[in-house]
Amino acid sequence: MASTHDAAVLVASNRGPVSYDVHEDGSLHARRGGGGLVSGLSAIGPDAGALWVCSALGDGDREAVRRGVGEPGVRMLDIPADVHADAYNGIANSALWFVHHMLYQTPLEPVFDAEFRRQWASYETYNRAFAEALAEEAAEGAAVVVQDYHLTLVPGMLRELRPDLRIGHFSHTPWAPPEYFRMLPDDIAAQVLRGMLGADRLGFLTHRWADAFTACAEQFAGGLGGTRVGVHGLGADADFLRERAHESDVDERMAALREEIGAAPDGGARRTIVRVDRTELSKNIVRGMLAFRQLLEDRPEWRERVVHVAFAYPSRQDLEVYREYTAQVRRLAEEINARYGTPDWTPVVLHVKDDFARSLAAYRLADVALVNPIRDGMNLVAKEVPVVSDQGCALVLSREAGAFEELGEDAIAVNPYDVVATAHALHEALVMPVGERAERTKRLAAAATALPPAQWFLEQLSALKA
Ligand code: F6P
Repeated sequence: MASTHDAAVLVASNRGPVSYDVHEDGSLHARRGGGGLVSGLSAIGPDAGALWVCSALGDGDREAVRRGVGEPGVRMLDIPADVHADAYNGIANSALWFVHHMLYQTPLEPVFDAEFRRQWASYETYNRAFAEALAEEAAEGAAVVVQDYHLTLVPGMLRELRPDLRIGHFSHTPWAPPEYFRMLPDDIAAQVLRGMLGADRLGFLTHRWADAFTACAEQFAGGLGGTRVGVHGLGADADFLRERAHESDVDERMAALREEIGAAPDGGARRTIVRVDRTELSKNIVRGMLAFRQLLEDRPEWRERVVHVAFAYPSRQDLEVYREYTAQVRRLAEEINARYGTPDWTPVVLHVKDDFARSLAAYRLADVALVNPIRDGMNLVAKEVPVVSDQGCALVLSREAGAFEELGEDAIAVNPYDVVATAHALHEALVMPVGERAERTKRLAAAATALPPAQWFLEQLSALKA
């Protein structure tokens, strides 16, 4: 680990690159994650003096911190579990996530009551713990890139502690338009903006989210001040995906999936409409299934000839509304299968256990990819599918996904709320001529890989230092 006041490049995020499990014999087992930041940091090399500050998330992580076990280049903060739960579940995932994704059912929520204020105090404590750790670890003039809505207050707090640093913040989510953002209590909205505006530079995934932030800053904080705003559209990692998608475990998963999908009555291969998501409210899995049901109603010729392969992996299950949503996804899949299924045909093949190799297998064999979020920062699935698709895949894409800014031209656009139009888009995607599908997939893959993760990170870093 880089020693105190030594790190030249620092990353701060709630979830770090490693997590720990305690085994029955008491030993600790480390699991390493992937993603854009991991590739970015490896791109700057082991000698760059990089340090990743993250939070301990579970009991294993806390135990690792207490035993002094860690990875080189990672500092995990042992924030008390109750403070973390308030900050992460209560504020970040229930208030800020909901505001930026516009997820509230407004007749009854949000209610910003005394409990919210109590949780907000924890969010401040949690942000302060990050700011203090970063201030301790950063070398004179170091560059710090703070990630996401969990840590909106960090740039402002860190600026006060260490005015010498170059501070960046990157949002992986959308940003709410002013008329939705101002749902937050005025003082909280002002505090969030002040925190963010403590940065030298703010990064967003699309122009739409950057413009929304700028509009909020102008309306509620008197403008951007000296803070610069930039857009870096994180792309798919083509080299990694193409290699990983051709390992033997993925081939095995493909064979198993083909078995589950089965053959059409005429003996030909069944078509597949694939979706892969965290079971996340913003992903719109339920309306996707309703659209599939509508397709079977409107176009009975597709019955027994198409399967909706839906992977909905558990996410944020501490929140009741997420658990309910997961249950609703399951219920609807069962309903559709009971209503339309035959002894040889299961219309919806739903898997809820996270399996990356199986996701890649589904990407490879998909005829149609359905990516229909209500609102999404980017959506990397939309970018990954065209990269690994074997035969070309038609992409049905929500116009509310960040990825739409780059992929819209070669996708079939949908309004995520319009189930009838989505059913029609699915039909259009299924009948797209093979040649056109392949051509579009090539162009989609090129657009999807325009800014690979390592470059995405380096670009931000040099813009911050400029
Ligand atoms: O989109 C924001 C984000 O924080 C992503 O960076 C991440 O992949 C996703 O949400 C999952 O979040 P969590 O850490 O809560 O599982």
